Amino acid sequence: MNAPAKGKSCPFSAQARSFDPFGPAYQQDPSEALRFSRDSEPVFYSEAMGYWVVSRYDDIKAVFRDNITFSPANALEKITPATPEAMDVLKREGYGMNRTLVNEDEPVHMARRRALLDAFAPEALAEHAPMVRRLVREKMDAIIDRGQSDLVEDMLWDVPFTVAMQFLGVPVDDIDRLRSFSVAHTVNTWGRPTPEQQVAVAEGVAKFWNYCGEVLARMSAQVDAGEDVQGWMYDMIRQNRVMPDIVTDNYLHSMMMAIIVAAHETTALASANALRQLLTHRHQWQAICDDPALIPAAVEECLRHSGSMVAWRRITTKDAEVGGVTIPKGGRILMVMASGNHDPRHFENPDQLDIWRDNSADHLTFGYGAHQCMGKNIGRMEMAIIIEEISRRIPHIELADQDFTYLPNISLRGPEALHVRWDVTQNPERRDPTLRDQRRDFPVGAPDRKAIVRQLTVADATPLADGVLGITLQDPSGAPLPSFSAGAHIDIVLPEGGSRNYSLCGPVDSGDWRIAVLRDEAGRGGSKWMHDHAKPGAALRVRGPHNHFRLDEDAAHHILIAGGIGITPILAMADRLRALGRDFDFHYAGATRAGMAYLDRATDDHAASLHVSGEGTRADLAALVDAAPSGSFIAACGPSRLLEALDELVAKRPDLTLRFEHFSTDESAGDLASGQPFSVECADSDLVLDVPEDRSLLQVLRAAGLDVPSDCEEGLCGSCEIGVERGEVEHRDRVLTGSEREAGDRIITCCSRGRGKLKLKI
Ligand code: HEM
Ligand code: FES
Repeated sequence: MNAPAKGKSCPFSAQARSFDPFGPAYQQDPSEALRFSRDSEPVFYSEAMGYWVVSRYDDIKAVFRDNITFSPANALEKITPATPEAMDVLKREGYGMNRTLVNEDEPVHMARRRALLDAFAPEALAEHAPMVRRLVREKMDAIIDRGQSDLVEDMLWDVPFTVAMQFLGVPVDDIDRLRSFSVAHTVNTWGRPTPEQQVAVAEGVAKFWNYCGEVLARMSAQVDAGEDVQGWMYDMIRQNRVMPDIVTDNYLHSMMMAIIVAAHETTALASANALRQLLTHRHQWQAICDDPALIPAAVEECLRHSGSMVAWRRITTKDAEVGGVTIPKGGRILMVMASGNHDPRHFENPDQLDIWRDNSADHLTFGYGAHQCMGKNIGRMEMAIIIEEISRRIPHIELADQDFTYLPNISLRGPEALHVRWDVTQNPERRDPTLRDQRRDFPVGAPDRKAIVRQLTVADATPLADGVLGITLQDPSGAPLPSFSAGAHIDIVLPEGGSRNYSLCGPVDSGDWRIAVLRDEAGRGGSKWMHDHAKPGAALRVRGPHNHFRLDEDAAHHILIAGGIGITPILAMADRLRALGRDFDFHYAGATRAGMAYLDRATDDHAASLHVSGEGTRADLAALVDAAPSGSFIAACGPSRLLEALDELVAKRPDLTLRFEHFSTDESAGDLASGQPFSVECADSDLVLDVPEDRSLLQVLRAAGLDVPSDCEEGLCGSCEIGVERGEVEHRDRVLTGSEREAGDRIITCCSRGRGKLKLKI
């Protein structure tokens, strides 16, 4: 039983029940096809395909995280069952594909993964970079004077294929044959071949299987003869000799077949998607050509925006809840990562390509958790080198007019051809032949978030109130800045290296960004620097936008409370609620009217109630909370004492939700990194780590190679939060509310610590 229980009325909409990933909408744009689901039906049962579909970021991540409840056993299952004729072909040819790594359950999977991990260490991967560079150059040399190319045909297929074979150590006799085999494998696993096509596909797959067997036999003989042969497949053969129960014979054969596809089609299609996107967004392509340091961030953003692995599968081993929906034991799940990667709850302005987005690396294109793609850093390396070579040698390249076509299937996605053209007389190396041999190297791994910075210009700087400067920022190229959601902020990077967060006041889609900065004479100097330097025409380095202070737009009622300069995010929220036509209460408190920025907008646009302590009209928070209708969502930004008082009051009203943000402060955050030593057990990645007295948990997790987002690193924003399964937390942040602390199920890793041992959900 893996469908919803019979007899009850089906809770899913007709659109959901008839959802078909082979239909034109999904095949054309999977993320768009699931917008309805992200918006209102995040987990649903598709009768058309017999799968539970999961479309929101957090829900997909939760499924990936728990590979015991959500087994990967069906990850490579044929989504379209074989016809009897196709089965006959497979049987006749002795086809015996079984579990590999990606669809193996614990504890076998982790034992294998650990035994095979060394080849993926950053130092080991870095050694492959010159080989990748050489292959891309050869392809570039072949096309540079042609002025037009189908990049898929001329480069993007062959390079990842050859890299994969070299990495694996697999000798390549016949690229074209292998290419046709791997297309058959993709259609066989994720496609919907017609009954007639099924036989041809089965023949291709069976030939692929037997070919892999022959190559494997030759490679095994070399290992047994003691030859000094290198490559990941040889590592596996050696492990097979040492631990035959874990790295079994059938595993070797199955892996050989699966890895050829895993290692090359994924990267070929991801590169084609990335170049298509970057050449479509000309301003961003130009930025890369001008500053190749942006390439790793661009690669990551393309993997998020238009990844090559758009959906992946799991099967439940017991009844399990996902996004509030119970999926029965044996339920087949389709996680649509392309949809999760466009979830506005996690990514600001998610449908827009933005190479300056600094949380792109949170994307789900490589999966997540115990099975997360082992080859992700090879894929990233290849994509970065391909983009670097093309942008340096033919920066004037353009997309030709074309209709893009895709191999019909549910998982692997990228155009079958990518036609481009350029004027060869403009090739820069005709003027400067040394250009051909230049290069830029990138560190192995995900881009460093802190290094992803936009250079913006101050378009306007106007006093808004006593000590408050209103600043408007624009892109110097004139390109509109991305829109953002109410409550978002940006980080201004200060010259000495630190940064300060400032909420964006809106309007949210004006193409420029507006902030308001209160000068704090007693602070650490950030606000003074802003007041002194942010003159019209000045350049500022900016990260973001990020949003850790989101409105629950569906709440029954909203109460907005701003204290002093805390008005900035609250104003954007009021604009948003008004645009949605929602009723809300708006309270704005300050010491004097002269010191309250945006007073006119608050009162004229939103009829805010003013509470001015200097005039004896201080806000009565107790009365305000008391009168709040049940189900209200309270959003508050202001000084600590206001927020602490609200937190205490709301703790007595469990029917209300409070979300707050401390406004940007110049106060010193103190030494947040140090405290008592403690240790952590990381449940998903199977690591045990010690956090010494002089380091933060965030620093220790990162040093162990775990990708944890962060923003303020002062316990203010909540972006570094991780779930806690067990253990006691010493909370030092200013993000979590009293009831969240009491629940004890999360930790803000940049500043909070454990008492003794913690078990973390990472
Ligand atoms: C697993 C995507 C490149 C080797 C996976 C998974 C995805 C994926 C979605 C399943 C993750 C999960 O279940 O959580 C991609 C994409 C790539 C890429 C989008 C390129 C852009 C590569 C390369 C290699 C590779 C180049 C090898 C050289 C693997 C392996 C696994 C895997 C061995 C199984 C890991 C395990 O189950 O423990 N990949 N992949 N991948 N990938 Fe990749
Ligand atoms: Fe902002 Fe930790 S990074 S709270």
